[in-house]
Amino acid sequence: MMRIIMLGAPGSGKGTQTQLLSKYFYIPFISAGEILRQESKKNEKTKKYIKETINQGKLVKNSFIINLIKKKIKKKNCFDKFILDGFPRTIKQAESLKKHIKMHFVIHLKISTDNILDRITGRLIHEPSGRTYHKKFNPPKKKNIDDLTGELLSKRKDDKKKIIITRLKEYKKLTKPLIKWFKMEDLKKNIKYIEINANKSIHKINKKIILCIH
Ligand code: AP5
Ligand code: MG
Repeated sequence: MMRIIMLGAPGSGKGTQTQLLSKYFYIPFISAGEILRQESKKNEKTKKYIKETINQGKLVKNSFIINLIKKKIKKKNCFDKFILDGFPRTIKQAESLKKHIKMHFVIHLKISTDNILDRITGRLIHEPSGRTYHKKFNPPKKKNIDDLTGELLSKRKDDKKKIIITRLKEYKKLTKPLIKWFKMEDLKKNIKYIEINANKSIHKINKKIILCIH
């Protein structure tokens, strides 16, 4: 049984490490940000709300993301093994998840603010799949081209300096208290809390996480 939560500030590498772990362990993953971005393209009723909230750098309402994630967990047949990238990120979300399903590990990617800005400002994405690259630290084989499809890469709309500042404020206000909550859960043996120094290379972080959860 391996149900993992990836927790960390914007740009800490949650998505990157989720994709690597998913390949290494052959397990599915659910990315909260990715679900919202896909949902904002197809769902007429909610697209305006999602786009506006993400582009302000704010978190969407707890009830909204909780419903989407619960549906995905059921649909993807995520039972014994799966990774949650970017969910939960408030205590309310964590309490709701705890009632629904037992999680085994929470990996907290701890990163300095300087590194956050370098990583986010250099990020490139393949919009249809959510695949992520970095101009300098994780470049695609061909400049600005997705390795798998050959399609053009782009920048995320919320990766602008002004929006990043709000995202970091939201993280400090709403997600940081969750770290303490998980540490308490670890003491009660409800989950294993693992803190990783995320200021290292992608490869080193990945090796360390695998070592910790094996
Ligand atoms: P989301 O998409 O989850 O954004 P985020 O939390 O801000 O995190 P990022 O995706 O920006 O960073 P990451 O940690 O995945 O880093 P990555 O691996 O890409 O959420 C977007 C929005 O959706 C939120 O702002 C909110 O509005 C909403 N939302 C999502 N979940 C929600 C929830 N639970 N509740 C309410 N609202 C929610 O890496 C970043 C860059 O660095 C990449 O270019 C990568 O190639 C590079 N990189 C990665 N690791 C390294 C390394 N070790 N060294 C060098 N470069 C690296
Ligand atoms: Mg991400």
